[in-house]
Amino acid sequence: MISYQVLQGDSYDILHSLSENPEQRGKYRIIITSPPYFLHRHYGQDLHEIGQEKTAVIFIEKLAKIFIACRDLLTEDGSLWIVIGDTRRKSGKLMIPHRLAFKLIDGGYTFRDDVIWYKKNSVSSSSKYNLAQAYEIVLFLSKNERSFTNMNSIRVSGNEARDGRNKVPSSDMMQFEPLAQDKEKITRIRQIIHDAKHNTPFEELPTTSEIARAYGYDPEKYCPTCYRKFKRHATRKRIGDHKHYPIFAVCNPQGKNPTNVWEVPTKAHYGNEHFAIFPEDLIARIVKFATEKGDWVLDPFTGRGTTGIVCAYLERNFLGIELYSENVSKARENIMAAAKERIALKIDS
Ligand SMILES: C[S@@+](CC[C@H](N)C(=O)[O-])C[C@H]1O[C@@H](n2cnc3c(N)ncnc32)[C@H](O)[C@@H]1O
Repeated sequence: MISYQVLQGDSYDILHSLSENPEQRGKYRIIITSPPYFLHRHYGQDLHEIGQEKTAVIFIEKLAKIFIACRDLLTEDGSLWIVIGDTRRKSGKLMIPHRLAFKLIDGGYTFRDDVIWYKKNSVSSSSKYNLAQAYEIVLFLSKNERSFTNMNSIRVSGNEARDGRNKVPSSDMMQFEPLAQDKEKITRIRQIIHDAKHNTPFEELPTTSEIARAYGYDPEKYCPTCYRKFKRHATRKRIGDHKHYPIFAVCNPQGKNPTNVWEVPTKAHYGNEHFAIFPEDLIARIVKFATEKGDWVLDPFTGRGTTGIVCAYLERNFLGIELYSENVSKARENIMAAAKERIALKIDS
């Protein structure tokens, strides 16, 4: 039975009392959130609201205190993901994400990555001096050196760098598994390559198609990961100079590791409301990568509940914290609607 809960109140107060409860400590596989930007907008009138501090230093200190209080709540293999934008004052950027990251490292976290969330549909800027801001940082930190990850759940196909050339081939032209490997031929090929010198003429080396065939791949068929023909997976040029180089390297048929630049369009707002929600696709990628079904996920700045919505679809337990009662009600509504939709559609996550 999956559970969803949104508590109303100040994040720090609630997190602090949760961390005093032994049943809550070490419970959450991930904490994932987007705190308010510094000096961007008011969500209400409560004096506890984050983002309205007099200086960036105070803002960063407050956030650091909240996220350091979260650390005890994470499982030993848990991770913290903070989607955070920067702020400009005059022409200068304040570098808020990275200044916060330094504080969190001091607080015991391991800094794993600063993923760029690239917003292709970002609004243009009319500034004469500054470039238009088209990304936000997603800070990825782990409680300890390593954290739980499931790379297979977020692998990608295709060669982004050469998308124009590597078109998606028709399914009958793709080959997923090797068929009838020729072990003797592989041994012979390996020997020839091992004995090759940098000046061995190409004609004396096996062709790339021969190599692919020996390894059980049709040289004219396509790899389901990079969309290159298999005859392109063996490279003769490196033979001699780089003997250690694998003579035939097939890609992982489940796809490549995604890069740390994620292109995800910003989300249209619910109805006409003006509210900084993050897109479900961005959060789903993190939830799939860093948790398993049935895990607990925490969002200390829940807003309208996007993290909870994704958890409802992906069958993760969710606890949210949000300062304003209006947002709490909306978040609960949105999460319950998603949970009902999943059950009605029997979505298989
Ligand atoms: C950027 S929004 C989060 C939006 C959310 N990711 C979503 O998709 O709906 C930040 C939220 O933090 C809330 N907030 C600000 N200060 C808070 C505090 N001290 N404790 C709890 N929530 C707070 C705001 O009310 C706002 O809803």
